[in-house]
Amino acid sequence: MLELKSISLERDDTNIIKDLSAVFYEGKVYAVLGNNGVGKSTLAYIIMGLESYRDYTGSVLWDGRVINGLSVPERARLGITLGWQEPCRFDGITVKEYLTLGEKKQFSIEKLVSTLDVVGLPRDYLSRTVDSSLSGGERKRIELASVILMEPRLVVLDEPDSGIDLMSTNMIQRVFNSLSGNGTTLIVITHREEIAEMTEEAYLMCGGNMLKNGDPQEIIAYYRTACDNCKHVNEPLKGVN
Ligand SMILES: Nc1ncnc2c1ncn2[C@@H]1O[C@H](COP(=O)(O)OP(=O)(O)OP(=O)(O)O)[C@@H](O)[C@H]1O
Ligand SMILES: [Mg+2]
Repeated sequence: MLELKSISLERDDTNIIKDLSAVFYEGKVYAVLGNNGVGKSTLAYIIMGLESYRDYTGSVLWDGRVINGLSVPERARLGITLGWQEPCRFDGITVKEYLTLGEKKQFSIEKLVSTLDVVGLPRDYLSRTVDSSLSGGERKRIELASVILMEPRLVVLDEPDSGIDLMSTNMIQRVFNSLSGNGTTLIVITHREEIAEMTEEAYLMCGGNMLKNGDPQEIIAYYRTACDNCKHVNEPLKGVN
């Protein structure tokens, strides 16, 4: 179980994350919805423990234990993983090497091919290089395949559908099924209703805080009406209650 207790993070005199609390139970699939700039990726970096985001106040608890001081590799060893909004390029290494990077276990070719199949890529991508020759959508798919192979206990997927064509909603569902079939807790950051509908519980973020949580359909309906054209997130939050 991951618990966030009164998390705040300041940048340039602005509270990007403001007294945020949330609980994510083992094996459940969560959505985090919210407009551009409300702090969703920042929250993902705080959960993952990125060094430049560890100056937050409040507590991140993993199975009841405060893990504020733990680095990315230490959190990764606990089973916490991040699927990046913009996956990095690794010039010079092949997709096969990328998929097995940092993993102590050996994957069979069949396992790698079946995981590529989940994300809709054929086996010949294994010998491609993870550089600018891959399209943005292909890199995103390869990133999702690498997350599946890690078999994390919890993953934050930061906009898993960004750069992916709208027709590939089934692929995203296959990725969620593959992960949750292994018991992984999913925190899915998204703007798309079809993606949020695939989850079991949704959080709505506004101005660095969780405004509401509950049934995805109810949260989506609220998001659609209340968050459209809302300027709140663009204002400095200090002093706002
Ligand atoms: N290092 C920083 N210094 C100053 N402001 C920052 C910094 N990092 C993030 N911000 C600001 O914090 C806010 C939250 O950014 P964040 O990337 O978390 O938003 P987001 O909800 O993921 O948005 P999007 O939907 O566009 O991906 C933005 O207004 C951003 O400009
Ligand atoms: Mg973001």
